[in-house]
Amino acid sequence: MAIVERVFSGVQPTGNLHLGNYLGAIVNFVKLQETHNCLYCVVDMHALTQPVEVWGGPTELARNTREVTAAFIASGIDPKKHIVFNQSQVHEHAELAWIFNCVARVGWLNRMTQFKEKAGKDREAASVGLYDYPVLMAADILLYRATDVPVGDDQKQHLELSRDIAQKFNNDFGDSIRSHGFGEVFFPQPEPLITGPATRVMSLRDGTKKMSKSDASDNSRINLTDDADTIAQKIRKAKTDPEPLPSEEKGLEARPEADNLVGIYAALSGRSKSDVLGEFGGGQFSSFKNALVELCVAKLSPIASEMKRLVADPSHVDSILIDGADRARAIAAETMKATKDIVGFVRKG
Ligand code: TYM
Repeated sequence: MAIVERVFSGVQPTGNLHLGNYLGAIVNFVKLQETHNCLYCVVDMHALTQPVEVWGGPTELARNTREVTAAFIASGIDPKKHIVFNQSQVHEHAELAWIFNCVARVGWLNRMTQFKEKAGKDREAASVGLYDYPVLMAADILLYRATDVPVGDDQKQHLELSRDIAQKFNNDFGDSIRSHGFGEVFFPQPEPLITGPATRVMSLRDGTKKMSKSDASDNSRINLTDDADTIAQKIRKAKTDPEPLPSEEKGLEARPEADNLVGIYAALSGRSKSDVLGEFGGGQFSSFKNALVELCVAKLSPIASEMKRLVADPSHVDSILIDGADRARAIAAETMKATKDIVGFVRKG
């Protein structure tokens, strides 16, 4: 089984899909379709790792799964040329995660900063699933032996863990991998693709905090479903500092709010931050904000209306996920069969 270049990434259906998810991840998903075979997954099993109040219960989970799917398609992902599916329809994710549970070390998971952030002070009350989250994520990627993983900056550490798991598996089972004729390595080392001027979009209320689905203040983020008036209000209210915009990028240092808004403008317009500052540098925030509102509305409104149209027809969205899952399963089953042989699990045929 030769390793072929393949892209995999996932988004959790936990509601409030925002500009950070769009610019940090989805925009890059769309671009990679030109050059790679891509799988884009709605990771519904990961959503369950948080308390039920966070993901909203069964009805919300199904609604949000369809909404993320709609966001993928409305943003320009082609589910016919590539694969769009939800994780729970391909049981091999859970199966490979178990094997990886036995490869990953407790010490590795103890270092995961996102677990510490999400678990908060009462770590004892966190689900075992939340602790194990990065192992399931490694299984998601390696089940398709994906080589490239477009993500936002916050997923860097999880990607490193996936690489460590792949390497330890290849080492631990090296003899078996060779004797089964799979060459020297079975799982590739997945490469994180963290690219563009907005790999870490910050809160509109506090430039030192990441824009997040779970922030209590809806004004901290621009949701992909926000209408034009809401977008305008949120940007006009966004925190800034009293100085005019600098003319050069180094002038953004120690000005997190200015840096964030310029980064958002750059990412949405496909330009660099210094190019944006070339146009707006020296000017007041108010006129820059007006331009940002216009750009945001122009880019996001068509996506929001297409999402609305798609979620109004859940059976159509479901048929896309079912078809994607069928095609994903074909790849996953191959990897799983080979993995079972490598590990020494006795199986039929
Ligand atoms: P999730 O749903 O939390 O985030 C989805 C994607 O959005 C990116 N992102 C951001 N990028 C820039 N600025 C922000 N403020 C921001 N907030 C979120 C995330 O980095 C992510 O790329 N663990 C993944 C889901 C996952 C996955 C995978 C990803 C499960 N299995 C396998 C890649 C490969 C996550 O954080 O989802």
